[in-house]
Amino acid sequence: MIQEEFLHKLKEHWIKNDIPNISFTNARFLRDLIKIKQVKNMLEIWTANWFSTINFSFELKNTGWKITTIEFSPNSYNEALKNFKEAEVDEIINPILWNALDIIPTLKEKYDFVFIDGMKKRSKDFLELIWDKVEKDWIIIIDDVIKFKEKMQSLYNFLEEQKINYNVIPIDPDDWIIMIIK
Ligand SMILES: C[S@@+](CC[C@H](N)C(=O)[O-])C[C@H]1O[C@@H](n2cnc3c(N)ncnc32)[C@H](O)[C@@H]1O
Repeated sequence: MIQEEFLHKLKEHWIKNDIPNISFTNARFLRDLIKIKQVKNMLEIWTANWFSTINFSFELKNTGWKITTIEFSPNSYNEALKNFKEAEVDEIINPILWNALDIIPTLKEKYDFVFIDGMKKRSKDFLELIWDKVEKDWIIIIDDVIKFKEKMQSLYNFLEEQKINYNVIPIDPDDWIIMIIK
């Protein structure tokens, strides 16, 4: 099955089951960033059923690089493993079934692209946890920063206090992201 067809099939299933995946427009934007930045080692915090992961993997597969992705729901994780195989991207994905808050401090690698998309009120904690794993000029993206802004006040405060430069980008009416180039 061709890649785009596969993604539409997944998305339809997840819309019916009310799973909060990123939009196609957002996926396209992030894939383009991965491509132009020639990303080598990506980290995704909060995967759900892997619509976003599979999108990113289709780009990373072209360059031969990889993605580590974290999810703590066994149901989502197991469904995802099936989808990775079907999409033929399982070899470049390192899926971790764990609470991201506990596992990130143990990760030893550096990541040139980090995507944060989960429990919105913990976004600031995740940014702090990954900060030392990202080097200068590398990319951090945080999703849903307007839709759930009231839950993310600690993140906005942290960005201001630490004087971190960031852009809020309106990807589409549903999905606005923060982009930080460290
Ligand atoms: C918004 S969904 C992710 C959607 C996915 N990025 C996509 O676009 O396809 C958030 C997911 O985060 C998971 N999650 C929430 N808190 C977590 C934690 N502390 N550690 C690991 N996973 C977590 C939930 O189980 C849920 O599946």
